[in-house]
Amino acid sequence: MKTLTDIKNLKGVKVFLRADFNVPVQGGKVMDDFRIKAAVPTIDALRKGGARVIIASHLEVLEGEKATLEPVAEVLKKLGVPVTFVGDYAKAAAAADALKDGECILLENLRVNEGEKKNDPEFAKMLASLAQIYVNDAFPVSHRKHASVVGVPKLIPGYAGLQIQKEVENLSQAFNPSHPFLFVLGGAKFDTKMPLIEKFSGLADTIFIGGAIANDFFKAKGYEVGESVLSEGDFDVKPLLTNPKIILPIDVSNQDHVIKPANSASKTDKILDVGPASVEALKPKIAAAKFILWNGTLGYCEAGYPEATNTLAKLIVEATKNGATSIVGGGDTVAALSELGLDTSFSFVSTAGGAMLDFLAKGTLPGLEVLK
Ligand code: 3PG
Repeated sequence: MKTLTDIKNLKGVKVFLRADFNVPVQGGKVMDDFRIKAAVPTIDALRKGGARVIIASHLEVLEGEKATLEPVAEVLKKLGVPVTFVGDYAKAAAAADALKDGECILLENLRVNEGEKKNDPEFAKMLASLAQIYVNDAFPVSHRKHASVVGVPKLIPGYAGLQIQKEVENLSQAFNPSHPFLFVLGGAKFDTKMPLIEKFSGLADTIFIGGAIANDFFKAKGYEVGESVLSEGDFDVKPLLTNPKIILPIDVSNQDHVIKPANSASKTDKILDVGPASVEALKPKIAAAKFILWNGTLGYCEAGYPEATNTLAKLIVEATKNGATSIVGGGDTVAALSELGLDTSFSFVSTAGGAMLDFLAKGTLPGLEVLK
């Protein structure tokens, strides 16, 4: 992968910087600036080198919200990046041409253009025509074969930004980990996590399953799961039930009571969190681990069930202080950590969700392959 240090001269060079500013926005305000902050070192490095920076990102359309990146420009300014927002793609070329050395613009949400998700060659060509070189610092979207991720770097020379380098270096530690290696996997959508469980069955010493995906295991064991969230899709959990490395919760919190999964009381019960005895039982494994990889919350935090996730976070922070390497990721997980003020207490916190899972499962991503 070519990186910023491979660029011989940046002075006066127009750089198309693909960032990931897909951040929660409510009422025109950015609710979490973690990903924006993560992009600043690359923007600064490009500006310092005298580049003219054209920054672009997607912002997934939320129902009823105007998915504009304008609020992100305000956050960038507060973070010391003097950026001008360009809300209209018809004006992008003129704005890029008017840039002086060290200046930057932020383009509107890439996904207002139909060609972005379709990886339309004409759209990629238009984006590429804005600059001389391409820098990808958008690790969280690098699993998508979209125009700004894989199309543009086929047309102009492409390089990886500093955040992508950090993500690759840190996440790659999981392929050659210290032992004992504890892998904690939560969240939902079992089908996206199955390849990881299979891969890390070989690499990890213990795999603890929490979140909604634990319900898929309970169901496969024949337990009543009531109205708990289950994953959709074509997969078979049964072969994993005999895997000695996989640990399931021994108790779970429903709406207002804690029970053993095997004893789910009623068909209207809904499992919402891992129970306290399960986290207690995991304590010695966390304390002994030299390497901890965690993706996905243990409970439904957004609905008010953060207890197990919070306790786990504190225990992993403790283990990190005692010398363990801890790597954490996933949108909801990182949001829970920010809420606790613990997002800087791990060895590495990934900015990615789905892309982290794909990278861990496959060791690469389409957006990284095109930078080789
Ligand atoms: C993310 O938030 O995981 C990335 O920005 C990718 O977003 P997407 O799932 O909407 O492509």
